[in-house]
Amino acid sequence: MIPSFDAAKAELRKAGNRNPGPWTQHSMNVAEAARLIAARCDGLDEEKAFVFGLLHDIGRRAGVVAKRHIWEGYRYLTELGWEEAARICLTHSFPVKDIDKDISRDDLEDSERESIRSFLSEITYDDYDKLIILCDSLADARGFCLLEKRFVDVGRRYGLPAFTLERWNQTFAYKEYFEEMAGIGLYELLPNVRVSTFEPSPVWTPERREVSTDTEQGGKL
Ligand SMILES: [Fe+2]
Repeated sequence: MIPSFDAAKAELRKAGNRNPGPWTQHSMNVAEAARLIAARCDGLDEEKAFVFGLLHDIGRRAGVVAKRHIWEGYRYLTELGWEEAARICLTHSFPVKDIDKDISRDDLEDSERESIRSFLSEITYDDYDKLIILCDSLADARGFCLLEKRFVDVGRRYGLPAFTLERWNQTFAYKEYFEEMAGIGLYELLPNVRVSTFEPSPVWTPERREVSTDTEQGGKL
């Protein structure tokens, strides 16, 4: 079952009250990007795309968590009977479908990590998995911006492990895939990309990275 727009929005509001941070506005922007792209693609449902975007980071309701937010979100939405949205909680962090190719701090229990590993190995990404992965990188809390800017922002906060290029290239491939399907460049489709791209980013120094609670409350913004 897929939640209604109102139900999804209510869950995001509740989660934001439990763990306030820029991650809720980021989720709204991911949802809007997904809706705008889906509306241009035959066979994609814009409301479903919007709801998946709203809920992809819902695991942050659990508090200050890193990789764990994907598991918390999956578990919570599964309990609510929203399995399709729960799946997005698990897939959205992995442009490359491999649990070992994620950049955030690993705060999972061994059994949880193994559950995610086997879940990922058994599925093939559908268009909604790909869409939310892409939109997660196209939207921050301020709006929509170039993938390149998001990649550098995230890299400065989390570092650049060896598989970084593979993640970037896969995300660019998803962008090209949806541009082909939508028949338009995504930077033309999403409003104000130029404005939010050129807005100055906060400076993330190594010392600032130690302030992990702020960063993790926001997620990979
Ligand atoms: Fe996100």
